[in-house]
Amino acid sequence: MPITVNDTAHDLPDDPRVSLLDFLRTDLSLTGTKKGCDHGQCGACTVLVNGVRINSCLSLAVTHEGDTVTTIEGLGTPDAPSALQQAFVDHDAMQCGYCTPGQVCSATALIEEIKAGWPSDARKSLDGKVTPTPEEIRERMSGNLCRCGAYANIVAAISEVASGGAK
Ligand code: FES
Ligand code: FES
Repeated sequence: MPITVNDTAHDLPDDPRVSLLDFLRTDLSLTGTKKGCDHGQCGACTVLVNGVRINSCLSLAVTHEGDTVTTIEGLGTPDAPSALQQAFVDHDAMQCGYCTPGQVCSATALIEEIKAGWPSDARKSLDGKVTPTPEEIRERMSGNLCRCGAYANIVAAISEVASGGAK
């Protein structure tokens, strides 16, 4: 069974050593997904696999037979951006932009995790509804580093969408 990336089926690589990140960037030319550390430390390579965010540098492509992968290119386009992509632009939530695809993919999953009531370390209790407070967003985005330090505007962009304040 092939792997599906942004609604298109692809054969997996023959080489079992190829990471999902390198498969996306080199074999499929989907260079929106960035390689920062290649060691699972920075989050620049974050993509969605079956709707769940992962560090694609830490995952071998051949382990994703039958999976559905969404990269930053699959979330929206310049003409039809996702709500989060638009919010990042509106809030100027970037400087160099290198971390931004990973930030947006991660935040896309974060919003679904909050809706589903997944717990985080930001809350004292597992009871009650999870709300997208700045503290929740910072905790849940802690795996995505930004060397430019655009964190304040990143949190603002995510807050807007997570709270239903954007289109
Ligand atoms: Fe994957 Fe840094 S490149 S976490
Ligand atoms: Fe430059 Fe985040 S905008 S690393």
